[in-house]
Amino acid sequence: YSEKRRDALRAYELAAKWYQHLLLNTVYGRPGRTYLEKRRISTTTAHDFQLGLAPASRDSLMAFLERRGLDPVFLMEIGLGATGEHGRYDRFRNRLMFPIWDGQGRVVAFGGRVLGRGEPKYLNSPETPLFHKGRHLYPWHKARSALRKTRRAFLLEGYMDVVAMHQAGFTAAVASLGTALTEEQARMLKHNVDEVIVVYDGDDAGRRAAVRAGLLLQGVGVTAKAVRLPPGMDPDDLLREKGPEAMKRVLEQETMSLTAFRLADLRDRRSLANAEDRVSFLQEALNVLADEESAVEAETHLQSLSSEFHISLEALRHDLDETRQRQT
Ligand code: GTP
Ligand code: MN
Ligand code: MN
Ligand code: MN
Ligand code: MN
Repeated sequence: YSEKRRDALRAYELAAKWYQHLLLNTVYGRPGRTYLEKRRISTTTAHDFQLGLAPASRDSLMAFLERRGLDPVFLMEIGLGATGEHGRYDRFRNRLMFPIWDGQGRVVAFGGRVLGRGEPKYLNSPETPLFHKGRHLYPWHKARSALRKTRRAFLLEGYMDVVAMHQAGFTAAVASLGTALTEEQARMLKHNVDEVIVVYDGDDAGRRAAVRAGLLLQGVGVTAKAVRLPPGMDPDDLLREKGPEAMKRVLEQETMSLTAFRLADLRDRRSLANAEDRVSFLQEALNVLADEESAVEAETHLQSLSSEFHISLEALRHDLDETRQRQT
């Protein structure tokens, strides 16, 4: 283990403790505590997730770490500080801090959310030898035993979603942070579970991303399902506004196969106002069904399409066969 890696781990560990202390125990942490209250994150959860507060001051983290023997240039290298025309400053200021851990629970990066409005909403640590964001699922070391036990994981979009889900007892929840799901992350999931339920935001971007994540998961050989959250809501919103029981119901009742999710999504995007629109919708639906490996599931959807659009099953099957031939 190189000296640099050791120093980086030490710097992140110290920074996490410092942020956490400020948030929980000091007057500087008050805006952060108020923010947590507003977001309905309990003190227990804040402890559990080692949440912290980066103060609004210019370089107090850097100064603190320098007093602990860490070199400011090194701190800039590992993404805790930076320099500008007015000298050095802390990378994270006036943000709620989420430590990101490696598989062993060591802090290797941070995500920081602005308190209230501001850009960027989330700021993440840069990639370092300790942190390759495409290989991390948050919070892997916390979620791993739960998801292995049930052989099922919930895949979410955001930090707050993860924290809120864990707080509500859904501890098999993980997120890929600030990036689309990568193949490496999909493989991590595949090695630990049989099934991944994608619970992305109920907005246009979230639904598109859910389809992409689902296809990637299926591509590495894990069953992907997905949930359509109420329009405009993410898991955190749903938990805060409706509570854990409502989430449980949604997960039980609204989890659908990736194919069903894609068909529902297609419906949202397509007008079915005239014959031409309906034909083009049906062709898109057949494109989706052509990816479905289960003949039973494909047939079920064909039957509903047949009765809804008054088209014979034979015609739909015929076109599905042609679609499949074109795709291979
Ligand atoms: P809240 O508004 O705090 O509830 O966050 P959210 O997680 O609902 O945010 P959103 O749905 O907009 O984004 C989902 C995830 O994408 C976030 O949790 C971040 O990981 C990431 N993200 C969002 N905005 C930014 C950004 O401005 N920069 C970066 N790097 N990542 C972002
Ligand atoms: Mn990398
Ligand atoms: Mn979003
Ligand atoms: Mn969201
Ligand atoms: Mn949110």
